[in-house]
Amino acid sequence: MKPMNLPGPKAKALIRRDDKVISPSYPRGYPFVMDHGRGTEVWDVDGNRFLDFAAGIAVTSTGHAHPNVVRAIQEQAEKFIHISSDFYHPLWIELAEKLNQISPFGEDAMCFMTNSGTESIETAIKLARFHTGRTQFIGFLGGFHGRTLGSVTLTASKASYHHGFFPLMNGVTHIPFPDPYRPLLQPQAGEDIGTAVIRYLEEEIFERIIPPTDCAGIIIEPIQGEGGYIVPPASFFPALRKICDKYGILLIADEVQAGVGRTGKWWSIENFGVEPDIITVAKGIASGMPLGVAVARKSVMTWPRGSHGNTYGGNPISCAAALATLDLVETEYKANASAVGTYALEKLREIQTRHPSIGEVRGIGLMIGIEFVESQETKKPAHDLRDEIVDLAFERGLLTLGCGRSVIRIAPPLCVTRSEIDEGFTILEEAIQIAEEKSRLFKIAAPGLKGINKG
Ligand SMILES: Cc1ncc(COP(=O)(O)O)c(C=O)c1O
Repeated sequence: MKPMNLPGPKAKALIRRDDKVISPSYPRGYPFVMDHGRGTEVWDVDGNRFLDFAAGIAVTSTGHAHPNVVRAIQEQAEKFIHISSDFYHPLWIELAEKLNQISPFGEDAMCFMTNSGTESIETAIKLARFHTGRTQFIGFLGGFHGRTLGSVTLTASKASYHHGFFPLMNGVTHIPFPDPYRPLLQPQAGEDIGTAVIRYLEEEIFERIIPPTDCAGIIIEPIQGEGGYIVPPASFFPALRKICDKYGILLIADEVQAGVGRTGKWWSIENFGVEPDIITVAKGIASGMPLGVAVARKSVMTWPRGSHGNTYGGNPISCAAALATLDLVETEYKANASAVGTYALEKLREIQTRHPSIGEVRGIGLMIGIEFVESQETKKPAHDLRDEIVDLAFERGLLTLGCGRSVIRIAPPLCVTRSEIDEGFTILEEAIQIAEEKSRLFKIAAPGLKGINKG
C-alpha cells in the first residue's frame, strides 16, 4: 500500500496557523486536519480518506455525522439553543428518564448533567464527599479521569499531567490496577491479581494509611482506558464491591470511555456482574456534542438545592444529540459493538500469530488494546515501535491512537462494519510489518510463522 504524503499542503498551512494561536499544551498525535466524516470514514482538508479507528477518543459512537443525530441537532437548534439550568426543558428531563431506565443500579437513578468527562468526575467527587461526609478517595495507577484539579489528582497515567500543577486535591491514594498482563503485585497462593489488589487495599492501605471509614469513594474505570485498555480479572469487581459494602464506601465507575454501548453492554461495569453507586458518563453519549452526566443512585444523590450547578449542563442541543445517540445504540450499535468487536478481536489474535512484537491482544466489544513488546519473554514495552506503527498506519489511511506505554487502542465508532475492520487491519498489519522490519528488534520469520526474538 502506497503511503500518502502527509500532511498535504492545506493541512500544513492550517497547522502553521494553529501553532501560532492555539495553546501548545494539547497532546496532538499526528497531523490529521479534519474536513468531514461519514460513519467510520473521514477526509482531511486535502481530500485524503481515512478509516477512523479512534472515533475522536472513543467519542463518535454512532459514527461521524449520523443523519439521525444531525437531524436532532438541527431541529433543536431551530427551536432554542440555550436555557439556563435554573429553568427546565423537556429534552433533559427525557434524557435523565432514559438514563434512569438504563442505569446499572437496582434502584432509581438521578442525573447531574455536565459538559465533559472531567466535570462528571468532579461532580462524583463532590457528591461522594457530600453524601458520605468523608474526605478520602482511592484511585488506581494508570487511571485517567480528566484534567481539572480534582479529576487530574485521580489521574495517574502520566506524571506530565501533574507536572507544574502541584499541590493537587487532598485525599487521593492510588493503588495498582489489577492488570493480568503486567501485574504490579505478586499474588499469593490461591489469589489472582484481582484478589491480590483487594488484599493490598485492605491490609496495606486501609490498615496503614486511611481508615476505611474515612474513605468516601473508590473511583475506577472498569476497563482502564488511557492506561492501556486493560481488562481486570473476573475476581476483582465482586471483591471490590464487597469491600465498599463492608465500609460504606461508594463505588464510582468512570464510564466516560468504556460506557454507552462500547463493550456491547450499556455500561462496561455490567461485564463484571456488580452494581456501582455512581457512574460518570461523557464522550460517546452524544456522538461528539459536549455532554457529560454523573448518574447516581437516587439514595446517593441527596444534596440539596443550590449545592451544585452549572451554566451549560443539559444543553438542549447536546440532549437532543444524546437521545438520538442512545436510540441508535439501543436499536443497532450495542449489538454491533459486540458482534464486530468479537470479530475484530479474533482477527487481531490471528494477526498476533504472525508478529512477535504483539505481546497481547485484549478487550471487550469495540474497546480493544494491542500491546507491543520488545520481547515476549520480558514483556518490555515497545514504546517507539508502537508510535511508529501509529504513524505508518496514518500515512496509509488509518487513524488510531496509542494508550498505556506501548498499546494501540482500537476504538472505532460502534457502527463499524466487518469490511471496514478488514480494510483497517490490512493497513495495520502492513504498518506492524514495516515497523518490525525497521526496528531490528525482531528477526522476521517466513510469513505465517512467529518471528524469533533477538532480544
Ligand atoms: C475514563 C475517562 N474519564 C474521564 C475523561 C475526561 O473526559 P474529558 O476529556 O471529556 O474531560 C476521559 C477522557 O479521555 C476518560 O477517558
